[in-house]
Parts: sequence; C-alpha cells; structure tokens
Amino acid sequence: MRLVFVATVVVFCTVAFGGWAFVDSSYQSQVGWVQDQPVPFSHKHHVGDDGIDCRYCHTSVETSAHAGLPPTHTCMSCHSQLWTGAEVLAPVRQSLASGKPLVWHRVAQLPDYVYFNHSIHVDRGVACIECHGRVDTMPLMRRAEPFQMRFCLDCHRDPAPRLGPPDQVTRMQPLGWSEAQKRAYGERVMKAHRIDPKQLDNCGICHR
Ligand code: HEC
Ligand code: HEC
Ligand code: HEC
Ligand code: HEC
Ligand code: HEC
Repeated sequence: MRLVFVATVVVFCTVAFGGWAFVDSSYQSQVGWVQDQPVPFSHKHHVGDDGIDCRYCHTSVETSAHAGLPPTHTCMSCHSQLWTGAEVLAPVRQSLASGKPLVWHRVAQLPDYVYFNHSIHVDRGVACIECHGRVDTMPLMRRAEPFQMRFCLDCHRDPAPRLGPPDQVTRMQPLGWSEAQKRAYGERVMKAHRIDPKQLDNCGICHR
C-alpha cells in the first residue's frame, strides 16, 4: 500500500511539475525562436548599422492596431540602387516583377482570441524594446518576450516604470534614467491620461 501511495504521489508531482515546466519553457513560449525567411533580412544591418527608423518600414505602428510589414517597393526604394545584383535579393526583385508580395514568416504573433493594439501603447510611450527587445542586434528576427498572458499583465498592473517619452519609442539604447526617474515620469503620464492599473487587467480589455 505504502509503495503504491508513494508511487502515485511521485507520478502526480512529475506530471504536474512537468506540465508547469512545459508551459514555462521556451518551447511553449517560443522565446528566442528564429523563423526561416524568404530573404535573410537583418534588423542588425538596417537598424543597428544603417540607423533606419522602425516607422520607415512599419508605417502604421503609431496609427493602427497593426504595425504592418513593409511592401516590396519599400525595399526597392533603396535596393534599386544598392546591392542591385545580389543573389540574396533575388526574391525581392522577383516579387517586384511579379507583383506577388514576399511572404514573411511571423515570429511575434498572438492567438486570435487576444486583442492587441500598437497605437495606444506607442502613444503612451511604451517603447518597442519593451516587447520586442534589441532588434538592432538581431541578424534574424527572433521573439524576445513570451507574449503569454502573464507578460502583458505584469506591465498592466504596474506600468509606471515602463513608460517613456513618446518621441523615443523607437529608440533602442536605454534612456539612462534611474529607477526613481522612470517611476516619477511614468506616474505623471498615468495621471495625465488617467491610466488606472485596476482597470487594465480587466479580462474584457484583451478578450473582447
Ligand atoms: C533605407 C534604405 C534601405 C531599405 C529601405 C532596405 N534596405 Fe536592405 N540594405 C540597405 C543597406 C545600406 C544595406 C547594406 C547593409 C550593410 O552592410 O549595412 C542593405 C543590405 C541588405 C541585404 C544584404 C544582407 C545584409 O543584410 O547585409 C539584404 C538581404 C537586404 N538589405 C534586404 C532588404 C529587404 C528585404 C528590404 C525591405 C524589407 C530592405 N533591405 C530595405 C538599405 C536598405
Ligand atoms: C528596412 C525595413 C525595416 C526596418 C527599418 C525595421 N524593420 Fe522590422 N521588419 C522588417 C521586415 C521585412 C520584417 C519581416 C521579416 C523579419 O521578421 O525579419 C520585419 C519584422 C519585424 C518584427 C517581427 C514581426 C513578426 O511577427 O514576425 C518585429 C517585432 C519588428 N520587425 C520590429 C522592428 C523594430 C522595433 C524596428 C525599429 C527598431 C524595426 N522593426 C525596423 C523590416 C524593417
Ligand atoms: C506592449 C507590447 C508591444 C510594443 C510596445 C510594441 N509591440 Fe509590436 N507587437 C506586439 C505584439 C503582442 C504583436 C503581435 C500582435 C498580433 O499578433 O496581433 C506585435 C507585432 C508586431 C509586428 C508584426 C506585424 C504586425 O502588424 O503586427 C511588428 C512589425 C511590430 N510588432 C513592430 C513594432 C514596433 C516598430 C514597435 C515600436 C514602435 C512595437 N512593435 C511596439 C507587442 C508590442
Ligand atoms: C510595458 C507595458 C505594457 C505591456 C508589456 C503591455 N501593455 Fe497593454 N497597455 C499598456 C498601457 C500603458 C496601456 C494604456 C492604458 C491607457 O491609456 O488607458 C495599455 C493598453 C492596452 C489595451 C487597451 C487598448 C484600448 O483600446 O483601450 C490593450 C487591449 C492592451 N494594452 C493589450 C495588451 C496585450 C495583449 C499585451 C501583451 C501582449 C500588452 N497589452 C502588453 C502597457 C503595456
Ligand atoms: C493585458 C491583456 C490580457 C488581459 C487583461 C487578460 N488576458 Fe487572458 N490572455 C492574454 C494573452 C496574451 C493570452 C495568450 C496566452 C498564450 O498565447 O500563451 C491570454 C490567454 C488566456 C486564456 C487561454 C488559456 C491560456 O492561459 O493560455 C484564458 C482562458 C484567458 N486568457 C483568460 C483571461 C481572464 C479570465 C482574464 C481576466 C481575469 C484575462 N484573461 C485577462 C492577455 C490578457
């Protein structure tokens, strides 16, 4: 009897803990995952080395729910002059010629039952880096954050220290503020916009 009891407890704990570890693991949350892309587009080169602003390519990030991915002619605004014969850019030239858009494989995506909106976050000064990490160091895009519910709620319950000046949202280097400065600035933004953390974890905000 005792043996059976001990075995049951062990099996139960393994399953329960294993399930928890699975939910927490990078396999489930896809943190750090890289996707194969039709063209090996590098944010490290375009953002880090060449200093192109996010909004040049993700044009609707300030105005709509979706940031948007650049159409082929955005690439060609430079690559009709630069690297014109490069083999890696052949799919871009084909796409322009055929009119068929490049199909990028997504790395940052939520399930359909979650509502998200870029423009409100950007407007309140939540920087890209808070959710997408240092994309200026990524030769290939990878997921920086888990995008599980807890990730969203951690900020929604205490956003103050993570709000910055809206005109700095696409900045990749830290602002260099102390924790106290960040919180003081954030508290002011919260007051000005009447942001109430008690409302921000209502289920209906994200599950409409
Ligand atoms: C504002 C100008 C500009 C735009 C727009 C642009 N590129 Fe580039 N791209 C460059 C420059 C400059 C380089 C040279 C990179 C370097 O060495 O820093 C480059 C290099 C590349 C390379 C060579 C590999 C590498 O990264 O070194 C690829 C592939 C590439 N770009 C793809 C794209 C795609 C796809 C788009 C559209 C989504 C795009 N580029 C849009 C300026 C641009
Ligand atoms: C020259 C154009 C260009 C610039 C500038 C640019 N991006 Fe991108 N971005 C792309 C392209 C093309 C993709 C799709 C391919 C990929 O995932 O790398 C992409 C993909 C992404 C993705 C992944 C979306 C998904 O779900 O797969 C994120 C996040 C992102 N960019 C953030 C940024 C941020 C933040 C900046 C500014 C710091 C920025 N990008 C600047 C062209 C650009
Ligand atoms: C509060 C977190 C957060 C911030 C801040 C944020 N993003 Fe996103 N981003 C997301 C989430 C979540 C998704 C996935 C959305 C979906 O699947 O509906 C996403 C998706 C994207 C995509 C994929 C294409 C699309 O239209 O959804 C791009 C590109 C992107 N973000 C760029 C940016 C840029 C550029 C900034 C800064 C100006 C930024 N993001 C700020 C959370 C954020
Ligand atoms: C770093 C902080 C931060 C993170 C991370 C964050 N948010 Fe927010 N979110 C905010 C702030 C600040 C607001 C603005 C509240 C306001 O002005 O009332 C907001 C507002 C929203 C709104 C309300 C938009 C509207 O139309 O009223 C939605 C929906 C939302 N967030 C979804 C998400 C989801 C989903 C995630 C996770 C993928 C997420 N947020 C992650 C800070 C954050
Ligand atoms: C700030 C945004 C946000 C709020 C508020 C929020 N959720 Fe979620 N929820 C998410 C995200 C993002 C996911 C997707 C998780 C994933 O893909 O792993 C999710 C997933 C879920 C799921 C699917 C099961 C799971 O955990 O994967 C359930 C059920 C759920 N939420 C219920 C709730 C309830 C109940 C509330 C209110 C108490 C709530 N959510 C409030 C963002 C939110």
